[in-house]
Amino acid sequence: VSPKILAFAGSTRRDSFNRKLLTTAVAGAREAGAEVTVVELSDYELPLFNQDLEAEQGLPAAALKLKELFVAHQGLLIASPEYNSSFTPLLKNTLDWVSRSSPGETGLVAFQGKAAALVSASPGALGGLRGLVHLRSLLGNINVLVIPTQVAVSKAMDAFADDGSLKDARQAASVKQVGAQLAELLKKLSS
Ligand code: FNR
Repeated sequence: VSPKILAFAGSTRRDSFNRKLLTTAVAGAREAGAEVTVVELSDYELPLFNQDLEAEQGLPAAALKLKELFVAHQGLLIASPEYNSSFTPLLKNTLDWVSRSSPGETGLVAFQGKAAALVSASPGALGGLRGLVHLRSLLGNINVLVIPTQVAVSKAMDAFADDGSLKDARQAASVKQVGAQLAELLKKLSS
């Protein structure tokens, strides 16, 4: 059976570089045989995490929906913009909500036993690489195995063609490789 990967970008921006980049990484995962579900995190309109709200009302319906999606996939493919050398509030807020247990649940059901792969793009010279360090650390701490291979696309203003693809064929191949390696790892883990 094909490994299932949930893919998303950590951006709310309409013309997000990271959303474009995600498309290339997703193509690599699909070519390697994965079944990929791409979601737009901002569509879920999660409130800012609030522990009182959680205590009074439980997880919001949108958080439960997203959490179910996480549970139903073995892999996470994330294109992560860099804000002030870390990842975005959208991504943090999403991971925080999804990490919470519903009554009767124990442990991090949305993350346990998962593997992830990361890419980033930014207009700067480092391509968002510093943010990936934080994201990798967070994911490791909630029991997600993050593959070592990652790509940070610098000078993103010039990196993408009008159709959203990467102009540089070698760079596109290395981004596809990130998705493909995640798919290959998941196949090995499930065999
Ligand atoms: C940024 N940006 C940015 N870029 C970077 O390479 N390193 C950084 O530390 C930051 N810091 C930062 C903080 C905040 C609050 C904003 C809004 C932006 C620029 C950022 O990379 C750029 O806006 C990208 O376009 C964001 O990615 P998306 O939304 O295009 O995918």
